[in-house]
Amino acid sequence: MNLGEVSLVGSILVFDSGFGGLSVLEAVKELLPEKRYIYTFDNEAFPYGELSDDTLIDRVNRIILALCETHSISIVIIACNTASTLVLPSLRAKLDIPIVGVVPAIKPAAGLSVKKAIGLLATPATVNREYTLALVNEFANDCEVVLVGSTDLVKIAEEKIQGKIVDKEKLERIMQPFKDKVDCIVLGCTHFPLLREEINEVLGKGYKVIDSGEAIANRTMQLLSERKKKGDIENTASLNEPNIAYYSAKNSDVEKLNKELAPFGFTEIRRVPFF
Ligand code: DGL
Repeated sequence: MNLGEVSLVGSILVFDSGFGGLSVLEAVKELLPEKRYIYTFDNEAFPYGELSDDTLIDRVNRIILALCETHSISIVIIACNTASTLVLPSLRAKLDIPIVGVVPAIKPAAGLSVKKAIGLLATPATVNREYTLALVNEFANDCEVVLVGSTDLVKIAEEKIQGKIVDKEKLERIMQPFKDKVDCIVLGCTHFPLLREEINEVLGKGYKVIDSGEAIANRTMQLLSERKKKGDIENTASLNEPNIAYYSAKNSDVEKLNKELAPFGFTEIRRVPFF
């Protein structure tokens, strides 16, 4: 650790394959605006919904461990359903700081659905995961559950942050299986809240659309205050260091990334170390 990093004690590390984790970061920042954030995205392996399990476990472990060695991190948020539904046990076995995962909000959706019919919109990997199917069996066995896995939608969200116009017709086709069937839809991929307005517009009235952002923010705050009570983290508000974003792809257009990430409060962009 170099001296410049000392004040990063207590930084919150937020991780995703791309820009999706920014939807979680925004929710967490609302509750914890004074914290310092390190946003890390694995753009070299994007999209995660198409990766094999072994590759995903290996990449996420290597990247998170590298960042935890470089900075003093008080909590890790795996702001990616595709990764969280697979890699949490391996990560928790290696790190002794709290790790918060983001998984599809099946339980609240089942509670909110009057029709007892819910939709899960996620990546192809997430809708097929044993973890997800176990959530459905445990919390929504009284509901009809319509599963839609879409990498196209992940790409549309990513492109929106890159300044492209959202293709509503494509969106309409992706949402079609839910129409007139369900009354509550779970956004089970962190990219999708970035398209909330467009999704609501395409669905029309009569659908509740939920995600895990607020629950993750509450959980993060709770875990941090437990750590603070125990005295094992410091308050980081005093020094004026920037929030940092890390990317993984060697050939990234850093100037473009800078422009895309600046609105989210990241003014310094670096490549993931030792990668
Ligand atoms: N944002 C991620 C998720 O929550 C992954 C999307 C992807 O890279 O396929 O699942």
